[in-house]
Amino acid sequence: MAVLRPSLSELATRIATNTKIVEDYIKSQGLPYPSFAADGSERFPLPPPSTPELEKIHTARQEVLAATKLLYDLTAGPYELIQNLFWSLADTSTLHVIHHFKIAQIVPEKGDISYTELSRQANISPIKLRQVLRYAMTNHVFYEPRHGYIAHTAVSMLLRDEKSTMWALVGFYTQEACRTNGTLTECLEKFPHSEDVNEGPWSLAFDGKGFFQYFNAYPESAKRFGVAMSSYSSGDGMRVASLVTGYDWGKLPEGATVVDVGGATGYVSVEIAKANPSLKFIVEDASPLSLEEGKKNLARDNSDLTKRFEYQLHDFLTEQQPVKGADAYLFRFILHNWPDKYIKQILKNLVPGLKNGAKIILNDVVLLPVNSLSAWEERRVRALDMFVLNIYNSFEREEAEWRKLFAEVEPRLRLDTITQPSGSLLSIIQATYVDE
Ligand SMILES: C[S@@+](CC[C@H](N)C(=O)[O-])C[C@H]1O[C@@H](n2cnc3c(N)ncnc32)[C@H](O)[C@@H]1O
Repeated sequence: MAVLRPSLSELATRIATNTKIVEDYIKSQGLPYPSFAADGSERFPLPPPSTPELEKIHTARQEVLAATKLLYDLTAGPYELIQNLFWSLADTSTLHVIHHFKIAQIVPEKGDISYTELSRQANISPIKLRQVLRYAMTNHVFYEPRHGYIAHTAVSMLLRDEKSTMWALVGFYTQEACRTNGTLTECLEKFPHSEDVNEGPWSLAFDGKGFFQYFNAYPESAKRFGVAMSSYSSGDGMRVASLVTGYDWGKLPEGATVVDVGGATGYVSVEIAKANPSLKFIVEDASPLSLEEGKKNLARDNSDLTKRFEYQLHDFLTEQQPVKGADAYLFRFILHNWPDKYIKQILKNLVPGLKNGAKIILNDVVLLPVNSLSAWEERRVRALDMFVLNIYNSFEREEAEWRKLFAEVEPRLRLDTITQPSGSLLSIIQATYVDE
């Protein structure tokens, strides 16, 4: 019943108690105090991975986020809550305008700029600009330090650097992904049971092309998506660090080879490699641009790792695994992108390359029953589930669904462990190929 009838004052108490835990930690560690000011920190201060306080602070912060949302929704009341949902249409459209017209680059890093001058430089009518920016300000993107003048906040500062991963992420969402908002219902109407990537919301929005097919036609978009993924993977609950510390890489044989299937630029393998000096990596992807970018980044930022890395063009849907007999095959954020019939094909293409004892390591969502997570995490996981529906016509899977898939493809592929590292929304699923 607490789900349906939470108490306003109990929620307020939960917020106060847990806020104090987090605030005391920030103060005791001398961490930057959270702020919207332009010189504020990009991220909420949290203990670094594997410090003893991580669990406690993480849980307290989750409690604050979950209880504030509940209190907000409850206090709005059902009628206004629905209205509120419609307003969110403007959340992405205003970000889109800011990104497209490079407003954050025109607004000075320090000080402010008038609407008139900003509108002249961006070539947008001052009234329309004011409409857009004043809505964006309700999300803390910019603020007005004095009437008619715009200045940066810590949030809008994240939109300044066109080389940043956040720039790529916002570009991908506001220019491409959000077009599926208009096609989901149409897709469910037209193709109610389809398991085809060419019959999903993305393909209805983009001339019948499935997501990765579209990227073949627009390699620059594919490259941007690759960069956007690395931004996504540095967010709370999605960090690569959880895979680095959450899997026992040390149990692989000395000098073992790990194939990072659909590894994009290989940024995940790079982090694993740093912590495991004896492992070698082969990064495979169907996007030549991502592989090129990865090679370039490795030589520039981690030249000491180049001897342990190879990059290989590979299409896991249409070709058999070219690296035979590796010790482990990693699929991070890969299989959840595909409806079942494609996953079966991907695994079938993998099996002929496997040696006895090879590990298949998935880092993907394993759905828990409703309300097992905090309300904040629940929303993030459900948003991811909607993302894979909109973009790939796929769905996030429960444990039984993963087990069924593996069993159907190949009984020698034994799904042996599923673990969820603390603070991570992604689980680590390990299967072993047992050829007997
Ligand atoms: C969601 S990204 C995941 C990238 C990376 N593993 C990570 O954790 O961020 C999916 C990747 O699969 C690649 N991909 C898509 N279709 C593919 C195919 N048929 N064969 C190989 N790679 C493919 C994409 O180019 C992209 O890099």
